[in-house]
Amino acid sequence: MTLFGKLYNWVELRLGISQVIEKEMTGYLLPRTINSWYSLGSVLLFAFALQVVSGILLLIYYVPDADKAFKSVSVIMNEIPFGWLIRLSHAVGSNLMVAALFLHMFSVLFMGSYKKPRELQWVSGFTLLNLVMGISLTGYLLPWSQLSFWATTVATNSVGAVPVIGEFLVEFIRGGKLVGPPTLGRFFAIHVALLPLVIAGLIAAHLFFLKRTGISTPPTSDTATAPQLGNSYRYEKHEGGIPFFPNFFLHDMSSVAIYVACLLGVVYFSPYLFFTPDSFVPANPFQTPAHIKPEWYFLANYQILKIFPSEIIGLTVQGGAMTIIALLPFVDRGDKRYPLKRPLFMACAIGGIALFLALSIWGHLS
Ligand code: HEM
Repeated sequence: MTLFGKLYNWVELRLGISQVIEKEMTGYLLPRTINSWYSLGSVLLFAFALQVVSGILLLIYYVPDADKAFKSVSVIMNEIPFGWLIRLSHAVGSNLMVAALFLHMFSVLFMGSYKKPRELQWVSGFTLLNLVMGISLTGYLLPWSQLSFWATTVATNSVGAVPVIGEFLVEFIRGGKLVGPPTLGRFFAIHVALLPLVIAGLIAAHLFFLKRTGISTPPTSDTATAPQLGNSYRYEKHEGGIPFFPNFFLHDMSSVAIYVACLLGVVYFSPYLFFTPDSFVPANPFQTPAHIKPEWYFLANYQILKIFPSEIIGLTVQGGAMTIIALLPFVDRGDKRYPLKRPLFMACAIGGIALFLALSIWGHLS
């Protein structure tokens, strides 16, 4: 017996690994009609892991001090071997992860898989989307460039529109009246410690809900409905389905390979796609750049704040829309899942996405 075989036997005798593999991998059956949209969840798991690993590597040389942060990022980009690859993978990866999150959300929207019994999966997922956007926002400040400084000034300013406690909140977030070194300290702690832990915990909860409800069957015919819930808990089984391992696992891996190809494609061929000229200039609190824009996925929010006469109306509209989306499974309670059998919902969803795109383009051009 080979050394590996002996080692496997030793562990097997103690932990019964083959039983776990049988239950969770080869014996974990998925619907026969499962499609590629279902592999976006695995792409997101991979994307998050990549952000954590590249982030830890960046921490070796990054210095969270307002006088040294910009210089330390230049050193990573220009002097540390492969520092550019790690830094660009992290920055580009954050954008691609948000794009993958939107796609995952739209796919569960159109397939109606947020409906009962998967309400908790939707709510945990939507919270994850917001936290990932929050971790990107806090990361934006860390290079301490003109873009970092002024984009954070604009973003934190809008919190000031909250009635009564607005001013207190802005000062609390910034650690002072203006964005400055205390803001960097706060955002650094939130970005590298608090949010990664909370996101990892919430991903675990999201996967736990998935394990308990079972994965949904894609709505491939117009009779597809969300299951009726009885008086007791029921797992959605897929007798005669395809095994997760190796069948769907290989499918997941091809989707991950496409994600990596897109990431490296941007890093090699258009490394500064998500950067603007202000990201190459150190922060200067005394010089406001002419055009400061948030990242592409915040452009719609930014434009909403601009079109309403007062910021508080803009914030209320956004808060209302976010609450409806967060509670969608409780608002849209019909049990039909086939898209063409839900014309009203589809019209609202497509209209909502078109509005989001239009506001983002308007925000970009204005
Ligand atoms: C870091 C973020 C996220 C990770 C790592 C993640 C991971 C996963 C995984 C692995 C699955 C199972 C396979 C699949 O259907 O793709 C899944 C399913 C699901 N996710 Fe997410 N997800 C994330 C964010 C979201 C968001 C933003 C939403 C919606 C707002 C969401 C809603 C759902 C729903 C409803 C399902 C059930 C799909 C079904 O059973 O058909 N997730 N997620």
